[in-house]
Amino acid sequence: MKIAVGSDHAGYETPGPEYKPGIMDFLKSLGHDVVDCGTNGPEPVDYPDFAKRVSEAIMKGEAQMGVLICGTGIGIAIAANRFPGIRAAVCTSPEMARIAREHNEANVVAVGRRILSLEQCLEIVKTFLETPFSGAERHKRRVGKMG
Ligand code: RB5
Repeated sequence: MKIAVGSDHAGYETPGPEYKPGIMDFLKSLGHDVVDCGTNGPEPVDYPDFAKRVSEAIMKGEAQMGVLICGTGIGIAIAANRFPGIRAAVCTSPEMARIAREHNEANVVAVGRRILSLEQCLEIVKTFLETPFSGAERHKRRVGKMG
C-alpha cells in the first residue's frame, strides 16, 4: 500500500528516538511504499502545512492512507479533517485504531510524540493498516453522512 507520512517538528524531537523516521522505516519493513510529506528535521514548523500535504496526497490518489505525527496527534488531525474525504483519527491505543477503521473508515491515523512511546505508535499504525472497514450498513450510512 502507498502511505503518506507527515509530521511537524515533534516527529524529530530530542531526545530520540525520532518518531517520523522510525515510523517510515517500520512501514517499509512491512512492505509498504512511503510517500514522505515532511517535515524532515527538528526546526519548528506549522502542523497544518504537513496535514495538508498528506491530505492532498490521498486526495490525488498518490497514497491510499496516511500517518500523521505531532505532539499530541490532535492539531494535525484537526487540520487534516478539513479536507474532503479525509477522516483522520487520533489514536492512543490499538483498540482505538481498530475501531477507527472498522466503524469510521478512517484513512489517516494521527499519533502523539509526547503521549505515546514509539513502540506504541508502531503497534497502533500496524493495527490501523491491517484492519478493514466493517462495511456494515449502519457504518456506511454514518460515514456517508460525513460527505
Ligand atoms: C508543537 O509544539 C505542538 O503544538 C504540536 O506538535 C501539536 O501537539 C499540536 O497539536
